[in-house]
Formats: sequence, C-alpha cells, structure tokens
Amino acid sequence: MTTGKVIFIFIAVASSRFFIVFSLRLLSGDHYCDLTRLPSPQALRSDQFTVLINGYSESRIPILQTVTGVYSSSPSVAAVVVLWGNPTTPAKTLVELSHNLSISSPGDAPISVIRQPSSSLNARFLPRPWISTRAVLICDDDIEVDPKSIQFAFEIWRSRSNNPEQLVGLFARSHELDLSSRTWIYTVHPNRYSILLTKFMLMKTEYLYEYSCEGGESMAQARSIVDEMGNCEDILMNFVAANKTDMGPVLVGAKRVRDWGDARNEGVRRRGRGLRAAGEEVAVGLSSRKKGHRRRRGDCIKEFHRVLGKMPLTYSYGKMVDSIGEQGLCEKGGKLVFCDQQTVF
Ligand SMILES: *[C@@H]1O[C@H](CO)[C@@H](O)[C@H](O)[C@H]1NC(C)=O
Ligand SMILES: *[C@@H]1O[C@H](CO)[C@@H](O)[C@H](O)[C@H]1NC(C)=O
Repeated sequence: MTTGKVIFIFIAVASSRFFIVFSLRLLSGDHYCDLTRLPSPQALRSDQFTVLINGYSESRIPILQTVTGVYSSSPSVAAVVVLWGNPTTPAKTLVELSHNLSISSPGDAPISVIRQPSSSLNARFLPRPWISTRAVLICDDDIEVDPKSIQFAFEIWRSRSNNPEQLVGLFARSHELDLSSRTWIYTVHPNRYSILLTKFMLMKTEYLYEYSCEGGESMAQARSIVDEMGNCEDILMNFVAANKTDMGPVLVGAKRVRDWGDARNEGVRRRGRGLRAAGEEVAVGLSSRKKGHRRRRGDCIKEFHRVLGKMPLTYSYGKMVDSIGEQGLCEKGGKLVFCDQQTVF
C-alpha cells in the first residue's frame, strides 16, 4: 500500500469519526435539549398544528411554493416552517425564498424558512422553542395533499391524541422478520403496516424531544446510525412512538396526493408523476429500482433493533377514510376501513 493510500484512509476514518462525534454533540449536549427553553406541553394549543417541511433542493422551489401555500391556507395550521438542510445554499437565497413564499401564499398561516444547524437527518426532529402546538406535521417538500385530507388527518390525530398517542400518516410500510435469513426486512404488506413515512406524518410535538434527547446511550447510537446510513430517521421515529404507545401507527386515506419524487432517495431526480390516488403509491414503492433502497432500510431496522435491544414496531390494520356515503365502512381492529377493501390500502 502506498503512503498516499494510507493517508487517504486515515483521513476518511478520521473525518467520519469527527462527523459522528459532532452529530452526537449536536443532539445531546447542547441547548436543543434544554427543557427550560421549551414551552411546557400543557401550554401548547391543540386546535392547530405546525408544519415542518424538509427543504433541500433549490430546483424544487416552485413545488415548495405550491406545497407551502396549501398548508398555509388550512385553518388548522398555525405555522409553516421549511427546515432547509442544504448547507451550500447561500443565506441570501434563503432570505429571498422566505420572502417569496410568504408573499405568494394564498393562506393566512405564516411561512418561514430556517437553515438546519447541520446536514444531519436527525435535525428534522430537533425540538424547537417556537413550536406552539401539541401536534407537528413532519413532511417532505415534494408531497402535495388535498386540503380536505390534511384536515381529516388532523381530526383523526386529535380524536386519538389523548392516549395512546399514535403517529398518523398517509404513507405506510412494514417491518418483517425474514425467516430464511433470520433478519429484519423492510417491506410492504397488502393488509397491515407498522411504519409511517415522513412524506406526511402527524405526531405529538413531544416526540421531537423524545427522539432527540431521551433514550440515553442507546438512542444516541441509533441516531448515529441514521447519520452513518444517511437515511432512516423516519423509521427511528416510528420506533420511538411505538416504544411509547405499544401500538402501531394510524394510516389515513387521502383523496388526492401529488408526489413529485425524492431525489435524495433515488440519487437522480424522478419526474413528477402527476396526480393520482394515494393507493397507487404502494405499487410505486414496490418497483424493482428500489431494491437497494429497501435493503438499506432493512439494515436500519436490524441496527435499531440491535442498539435499542427490542423491537417495538407493531402492526396496524386498515385505514381511516373520509368517504361516508361513497363506500361502506367496517369496523376492524378498532378502526373504520372499507368493507370491500379490507386488504388494500
Ligand atoms: C424570488 O422571487 C423573485 C421575483 O419573482 C425571483 O426573481 C427570485 O429568483 C426568487 N427567489 C427565490 C429564492 O425563490
Ligand atoms: C422505551 O421505553 C422505555 C420504558 O417506557 C424507556 O425506558 C426507553 O428509554 C424507551 N426507549 C426508547 C428508544 O425510546
């Protein structure tokens, strides 16, 4: 091995160590976890929620404009905040963006853009002193949901939010123990689910604190796995909520969802797939191009199970729908589902 190679490996190892140590510091030692800076949970209002949108790509600003406008127009939204994760975007652009989103919005809820303190994916779950609501919506910048479905999802969250405090969302996946390889895998089941995606995930605000600040050394390790994998912060949040509730999440059926694709998951930008029913989203999730992505997600489940020492993920069945009059609804497992579609979501 040449000296050049040795030096290169040394730098690579040293910098990844530095990155992990740095991100652990960011999430444990510093002020984000200082409870005296955060409003007390009792002071938070429950009639509205705060939208936290992950923003990263400047090329998606036109989409972001539409998406923030829809949320800002919802009477249930207290504030829309874009958490900008791309450290290379100039400060001037973010100031302009914040201004542009605000003046172009047809809605009343304020829209702002703030830069994330690091490029760590864990930063999307940092507790924030300015959140004044009991619920937050964690979502991506490329998912457009029709206003009625947004409202319906929040009503479901509110109606179930006292105890237990389940995650509520529109996109579901599953974990499963693969018996032949004896490992956890990430998959899609036709009739059950245990993981909600952060394309649209409503949850109680306190889960931000629990994700970022609680769970001691094992959660610190789990968060560093998110940094190493550059993925899976959403799966880890599902672990946190399931560990708390001993229940699976709640899937809500949206009337219309526009999914513009996620460039970071795919490595390339997919074209917008246009408007379609939310149910079709499952078929896209199963496409063979996504096999590598699914394997990495399975590795995350395996690693979280290892460092947390348990598997809290639990299955839920059926989905909540807002279409009384159009289709019969059946009670199943404590939830209302389409009577004729109990195995489809
Ligand atoms: C803000 O809007 C102005 C005027 O339409 C436009 O020239 C500029 O590129 C926009 N900037 C961003 C960051 O959206
Ligand atoms: C899971 O719950 C237990 C008991 O409620 C708690 O002690 C532990 O810290 C939680 N683990 C995580 C990862 O949140």
